[in-house]
Amino acid sequence: MKTDEIVVLHNQYLMNTYNRYPIAIVKAQGVKVWDAEGKEYLDFLGGIAVNVLGHCHPAVVEAIVAQAHQLVHISNLYYTIPSAQLAELLALNGGLDKVFFCNSGAEANEGAIKLARKYQWRKGHKEKYKIISATHAFHGRTLGALAATDKPEIQEGFGPLPNGFQSIDWNDTASFLNAIDEMTAAVLIEPVQGEGGIHLATQGFLEKVRAACNKVGALLIFDEIQCGIGRLGTLFAYESFGVKPDIITLAKGIASGLPLGAICATETVAQTFQPGDHGTTFGANPIATAAALATLKILIEENYPQKAAMMGAYLMDKLDHLQKKYPQAIAQIRGKGLMIGIELKVDAKSVLNACHSQGLLANITAGNVLRFLPAYTITKEDADRAVEIVDRAINDNHFF
Ligand SMILES: Cc1ncc(COP(=O)(O)O)c(C=O)c1O
Repeated sequence: MKTDEIVVLHNQYLMNTYNRYPIAIVKAQGVKVWDAEGKEYLDFLGGIAVNVLGHCHPAVVEAIVAQAHQLVHISNLYYTIPSAQLAELLALNGGLDKVFFCNSGAEANEGAIKLARKYQWRKGHKEKYKIISATHAFHGRTLGALAATDKPEIQEGFGPLPNGFQSIDWNDTASFLNAIDEMTAAVLIEPVQGEGGIHLATQGFLEKVRAACNKVGALLIFDEIQCGIGRLGTLFAYESFGVKPDIITLAKGIASGLPLGAICATETVAQTFQPGDHGTTFGANPIATAAALATLKILIEENYPQKAAMMGAYLMDKLDHLQKKYPQAIAQIRGKGLMIGIELKVDAKSVLNACHSQGLLANITAGNVLRFLPAYTITKEDADRAVEIVDRAINDNHFF
């Protein structure tokens, strides 16, 4: 099928929830993808921070195929091998003590909010139900996760949203400390905000929020759905900041593209959930957990977080030079590891369109931030090529 035919079919039968780019991807390998006309692209978006080892990594494909021949689905009423092994691997490598597997990022955050509230409730603190999150955060599209996502444009029309949610200015330590009180069940934050435009938490902010949570018995939840799984240079994002949360939520890169989310918690917090408290039919699915097991083993054994840090530093350096070359077009380069934002002063959509036509996939977030979330397998040549394309996209559009 050609792109035009695919677009017609999509428009007729799929709900209109995305402004898709006019590109139909039919094949992918490593950091390259191909559209229906055979055009090749260098993928610097990685399925929005999902394809951490590149597309179709042979060991992950092998694990998926082997598991598909063995057991595809059985439900959480039975024990299964890949979920047990994955839970152990996470716990032994910094993922706190216990895990609950679900199917997506929003579902992981939804479960984490439930876990925090029930934790307080079990301790007899029924008054502690408030969930504090930050401005510019993105935690997902389900009602609870949406209530923690202070974006009127995506909340509008879906009310009433669950109550007990409060949004405080990002990185504003004084306001956070003021808001964290005896009614607070948990603080939910992304150590690096992704959809919000690549904004890093400061070390001091996280340390002070941690201390304030401890003081009133509130839990600290890190949403590492976009910034975790090695992207910042450490397997878990919290390790890059030296501040340990009580709960971590994961999804995106954990299973190289199979739908899997996870709520990791300390032993004390994890004990909250008892049979019947929470559940899911597909969560911990054998194929998704087998894919995650293969992904994490490779990430850990081949030290990919360190590679992400090195390639990120290389890329940021190149982009800093580009910013100096086009100060009228580029406001700032922000990021950590392979989570990078190029804040533009010029029309971001035109820059992205030019990147697409020259064979580079990226996206725009927060209106004017060109975002790179590539696989950790990118080479210096890939990074050079991506920067060259952005350079040309700015130059050819006469943006300076
Ligand atoms: C930080 C963060 N949390 C949660 C989500 C929601 O994840 P999902 O789309 O898998 O529900 C996202 C998705 O972009 C995210 O970036």
